[in-house]
Amino acid sequence: MKTLRDALVESEKSRTALGHFNISDLVALKAVAEAARGLKVPVIVGVSEGEREFLGVRQAAALVRSIREEFDFPIFLNADHTHSLAKAVEAAKAGFDSVVFDRSTLPFAENVSETKKAVEALKAINPSIIVEGEIGDIGSGSEIHESAPESSRILTKPAEAKQFVASTGIDVLAPAVGNMHGLLRSMVRGEVHKRLDIGRISEIKAATGIFMTLHGGSGTDDSDLRNAIQAGMNVVHINTELRLAWRRGLETALADQPNEVAAYKILPVAVEAVKGVVSGRLQLFRSSVARVAG
Ligand code: G3H
Ligand code: ZN
Repeated sequence: MKTLRDALVESEKSRTALGHFNISDLVALKAVAEAARGLKVPVIVGVSEGEREFLGVRQAAALVRSIREEFDFPIFLNADHTHSLAKAVEAAKAGFDSVVFDRSTLPFAENVSETKKAVEALKAINPSIIVEGEIGDIGSGSEIHESAPESSRILTKPAEAKQFVASTGIDVLAPAVGNMHGLLRSMVRGEVHKRLDIGRISEIKAATGIFMTLHGGSGTDDSDLRNAIQAGMNVVHINTELRLAWRRGLETALADQPNEVAAYKILPVAVEAVKGVVSGRLQLFRSSVARVAG
């Protein structure tokens, strides 16, 4: 069976990106797995600390593993935005394929020393686990925000990225390159899109030579996403767009079936709504080379 590292190496060679989609229930998991299987592309399922508190750490691992084994399909599980070593260790012991160890709110030197410690501890549990570190500030939650946080304009510098990677031993870097978590109301309406600093992505890639993840993918301009992948992003995280589709799907289903009480008759509408978003994003993440060249 292909590992997450194999999939990252392939993405680097083909200049495509792996889609990473957050879930907190079976609706979203089914949507992600069905969309990826339909397109025959590997996929990463992410659960943040809050999402896995609801779903269960071992339950998330068991669910994803069961899909991987039943369908012999490369679906991977990531412990997204993990802020403590204890929770990172818990995920590694449960069999997660990767951990995003996020101490990006700390001063740089402390972020370096805590991330280095986490890399050592997690690799001692599972030598092939992928550990991602983060520098810069890309805002808080995957929610609908009233205004953009000022800090989202402070971008990662290539030199500090190089130093961070060399000092910590991480496998994947998550930089701040114009991205931010969540959506503004104008983005929900589709009037405004997030824009990325593509030149900076190329510079950080050249300085570090490491796999990179773009967080805060929801609402990003499509051509910026293609160019970011071409410039060196190997993974793109999408969450708020799925949460929005989940809510809208659920509202539609409840409005259309006012007397229905069987969850398995209501929830498929939400699965389809989320699946539509996942399929669209996965197709875009595979299209960077052709579109940029064309
Ligand atoms: O880690 C999760 C993501 O970075 C999702 O960001 O909610 O803006 O898509 P998003
Ligand atoms: Zn994120």
